[in-house]
Amino acid sequence: MAILDFGSQYSHLIARRVRELHVYCELYSCQVAASELEQHDLKAVILSGGPNSVYDKDAPHVSKETWELIEKKNIPVLGICYGMQEMAHVFGGKVVKGLKHEYGKAMVHRAQDCESILFEGMPKEFQMWMSHGDKLEQIPSGFKFVAATENAEFVAMENLEKRMWGLQFHPEVTHSPLGKIVLENFCVKIAGAPADWVMTDYANEFIESVRIQVGEKGHVIGAVSGGVDSTVAAVLMTKAIGDRFHAVMVDNGCLRKDEAVSVVKRMRNDCGVNLRCVDASDKFLSLLKGVTDPEMKRKIIGKTFVEVFQEEADKIEKEEGHCDFLLQGTLYPDVIESISYKGPSATIKTHHNVGGLPSTMKLKLIEPLRELFKDEVRELGIALGIDEASVWRHPFPGPGLAIRILGEVTAERVKILQEADAIVIEELFKSGHYRAIGQAFVVLLPVKSVGVMGDGRTYENVAAVRCVETTDYMTADFYHLPYEVMGRMSSRVINEVRGINRLCYDISSKPPATIEWE
Ligand code: XMP
Repeated sequence: MAILDFGSQYSHLIARRVRELHVYCELYSCQVAASELEQHDLKAVILSGGPNSVYDKDAPHVSKETWELIEKKNIPVLGICYGMQEMAHVFGGKVVKGLKHEYGKAMVHRAQDCESILFEGMPKEFQMWMSHGDKLEQIPSGFKFVAATENAEFVAMENLEKRMWGLQFHPEVTHSPLGKIVLENFCVKIAGAPADWVMTDYANEFIESVRIQVGEKGHVIGAVSGGVDSTVAAVLMTKAIGDRFHAVMVDNGCLRKDEAVSVVKRMRNDCGVNLRCVDASDKFLSLLKGVTDPEMKRKIIGKTFVEVFQEEADKIEKEEGHCDFLLQGTLYPDVIESISYKGPSATIKTHHNVGGLPSTMKLKLIEPLRELFKDEVRELGIALGIDEASVWRHPFPGPGLAIRILGEVTAERVKILQEADAIVIEELFKSGHYRAIGQAFVVLLPVKSVGVMGDGRTYENVAAVRCVETTDYMTADFYHLPYEVMGRMSSRVINEVRGINRLCYDISSKPPATIEWE
């Protein structure tokens, strides 16, 4: 199944929903060459929404060759929003500028005289999410209207002979509660796409193919952090080639309390990964001396990480005689980011992955998670038998505690933060809130406050607890943690951690705040 992306903010959600039906799909730019699509056994095509108007000078269009391929093979097509307008534009309908942008929930009424298979199993009226400026005024000949909104706008059309369907609304968003049925009807009932995308098959196929790619004698190296992505990737590689996969963990001195030891235990003992841990704490901490600027901290840690990793790669190469491949935990959202259609006005997302390795490393890349979303990586982790605690760990940034210690990073401040952070995480587990939270941590502030302990006055650091609810980490809300849990955290941190005498709870959302403080 191919999704042709016209630049909608929802395109990746279409891919998510289709995958949730266990139907395999891939996202392509709307301008993908027909010859590329032809190489796949295409069961159906979905045209996404997009910000343009079909009549704009620069508006993106599906190529003539792709339309010819679709028609020649009678491949079913579902156009969503701009995708439907594109379809109408190509087949002789009329799209006009709406008087205003329609944005929000709308009730959709099915036509009395047309029982479209697309809406099979759905009531006569249902709620869907709209987000469009232009609208369809006249449908192309050969097409039939199959649904309209309360305001008598035509929002769905079909052409059974051509096997084409168009929707003005977005079935892929969660505000369209029955949208999943529409997509299932299209993918399974109309297109007959096999619902056979399961994680154990995925793992077995990867293992088979990587064995062929690496060969009998090849060696693979990969950096691991203990996070879910690198753990799953490392376990897959180990299952494929055993100890010829060399995992390297770099301790940058800014990890969580006992993190290096526990990752080594989980990876080496529980998962059988051939892991070496390089303790480069002193090197990192001495380079961070006196540095307070967050971006400078990121740069230093990123550059030093690459140097340490490269040294280790050289050692492995010497020991084994050669090392040919590099394992990377790239996920599908990163791939989508690089292939999706970007109009001239699209903003380029800045992202900051410190674990990124330089292209100067002359190793061939292996990216087993390139086709997966984060929750699919978790599903794969469970299918591989990785323990739940590893699979559900919160993400941890590459620069680690260095960007959670505001101001200068010193060994002493790392220690204070590690202790406080460990208590907070422990309390979240004990109270059963950890899984509902997207990310939780403590930030050590460069501020001192007065307190009283026993008979004495204290003058110590202030720390803040940050817990957020999020699915995509692009937006987030502060987590509504019960007061009694906050109370326990506060009394334990202040009593047990020397150096902190005041704990605050961060109640900002993203945007306008970010998740990290630096
Ligand atoms: P922000 O603070 O931008 O964070 O709202 C969004 C997500 O990105 C993580 N993050 C980083 N991850 N290197 C990383 O590997 C970084 O420099 C970095 N900065 C932020 C952050 O923890 C959150 O999950």
